[in-house]
Amino acid sequence: MARDRRFLIAGNWKMNGLLKDGVDLAKAVAAGADGRKAELLVCPPATLIKSVADAVQGTAVAVGGQDSHYENEGAYTGDVSPVMLKDLGCSYVILGHSERRAYHGESDEEVKAKAEAAHAAGLVAIICVGETEQQRDAGETLPVISTQIYGSVPEGATPQNTVIAYEPVWAIGTGRTATPEQAQDVHDHIRTYGMATYGPDNWEGVRILYGGSMKPGNAAELLSQPDVDGGLIGGASLKAEDFLAIADAADALM
Ligand code: 13P
Repeated sequence: MARDRRFLIAGNWKMNGLLKDGVDLAKAVAAGADGRKAELLVCPPATLIKSVADAVQGTAVAVGGQDSHYENEGAYTGDVSPVMLKDLGCSYVILGHSERRAYHGESDEEVKAKAEAAHAAGLVAIICVGETEQQRDAGETLPVISTQIYGSVPEGATPQNTVIAYEPVWAIGTGRTATPEQAQDVHDHIRTYGMATYGPDNWEGVRILYGGSMKPGNAAELLSQPDVDGGLIGGASLKAEDFLAIADAADALM
């Protein structure tokens, strides 16, 4: 099947890995990256970015950060800026992950400012949205997602500088996964809402990833949905074999 949008299979390593683990994992991913149709991305913790970038240099694996500031420099103890990520060899950054929204109080407005700064630095922003279980049970999923998109995605978003990740909070790290139909419903909504709000030309090509307990056993059915353009993978990205098996599922659909 020919797809207009190239699958992006992205690993969010979260706060996992010491130096040797990270480099070993990156090398194992890189060893399985040649000749793939899907694009592969790994997002290690900030401490590992330089070593991972060195380990995958010259391969088809891209590297991204898990967060970046809305300023490029200044008195922001503990933070990392988009130009710093770029300087280390990153081409992507994850922004507004539900764990940052929940544990660091990040608002839509802050995520949007971070995305603008990431764009200015030449990074592709992977902007995350997703409803809680309570919001889903209350029938609020689609309005919650619209509000997050409107609040978090800058006006200058294009398929070249922006990827959206739909990550239902109740499916993250829980082993529970959205059904392919639930994922497609929300992805279709994000596409339609984005096209209406930001212009059809810009949003037809924006890739929308699914995240939330994606693994080798469920990747094919999720990725076969028309508006699921890849995965943002947590737990299963920490094992090269599982991560590459998900990439295999994507390749088989392209
Ligand atoms: P899991 O794949 O571990 O559920 O994590 C998903 C996620 O949060 C990716 O950003």
